[in-house]
Amino acid sequence: MGGRKGIAEMVRHFLDLADLDPDTLRGLIAEGRERKARRQGLPHGAVDADAPLEGRVLALIFDKHSTRTRISFDVGMRQLGGTTLTMSGSDMQLAREETIADTARVLSRYVDAVMIRIIDHALLAEMADNSTIPVINGLTKLSHPCQVMADVMTFEEQRGPIKGATVAWSGDSNNVLTSWVHAAARFGFALRVASPPELSARPELREWVKAEGGDVRFTTDAEAAVEGADCVVSDAWVSMGDDDAARPKRHNLLAPYQVNAPLMARASKDAIFMHCLPAHRGEEVTDAVIDGPQSVVFDEAENRLHAQKAILKWCLS
Ligand code: CP
Ligand code: NVA
Repeated sequence: MGGRKGIAEMVRHFLDLADLDPDTLRGLIAEGRERKARRQGLPHGAVDADAPLEGRVLALIFDKHSTRTRISFDVGMRQLGGTTLTMSGSDMQLAREETIADTARVLSRYVDAVMIRIIDHALLAEMADNSTIPVINGLTKLSHPCQVMADVMTFEEQRGPIKGATVAWSGDSNNVLTSWVHAAARFGFALRVASPPELSARPELREWVKAEGGDVRFTTDAEAAVEGADCVVSDAWVSMGDDDAARPKRHNLLAPYQVNAPLMARASKDAIFMHCLPAHRGEEVTDAVIDGPQSVVFDEAENRLHAQKAILKWCLS
């Protein structure tokens, strides 16, 4: 799967949306929505009637902070009938120079799947290459595919098919943006990206989307990107793994990209506002927007749970 080589090539990893075909991704969204509908009224701790992952163990490894990813994967795996183990990278021998490859080989003997949050994307790939069990990307410096699956699901719940819609991104060209770019090509929507020139998208990402024929345009003008959009997205100005010393400079560069009421007013009148959270209120988004009627940020957070259950089931099928 996903062009991986060696022992791991037949394993269903979930590393990037770019690795998967549109039908698979669409099937995951449908499964997430069906599972969500079937759980209405059930307590969070109740197991889904079909318990498809009964007897399976998921390891959750966090090398960085997390609230949503950690809890939604943990609860989601239990709802599927499985169990979880949560570890921080700093508690593991990884922090004492055991290689990621050896860690992957060992985990493959104990558990059925691994979700890992690790800044260095190359280490995620190395883990997958040396793992005989599925590896799921819980965020790297490069991408955050589980987040954007929940975002696509949320858009469709709110506004119908995302195919043919226009999504605008205003802010840093970070990991969440990369997954939005991958999603635009795979789900067939237009993406308008506004970032300061100093923080613009990587050339490899631009080349990728060109080669894939995705409708993605990059600009430095936030108003132009948002004009008439069906959905406006923002994210932190400083991401995990960014140099903290560069914080003041990033804030200066990104101030014109804040999603506030005047910027939101340029979007379509029923546009929705999305943010993966955690939000930095008064920075990338104002209270008026994130707490306003167009914001769907808590549906997005909830949908992490439902979308990831579909991903877990797919990985372990
Ligand atoms: N959106 C997201 O991944 O949140 P956490 O960092 O809390 O997991
Ligand atoms: N871009 C943010 C997303 C957090 C969920 C970060 O990487 O810190």
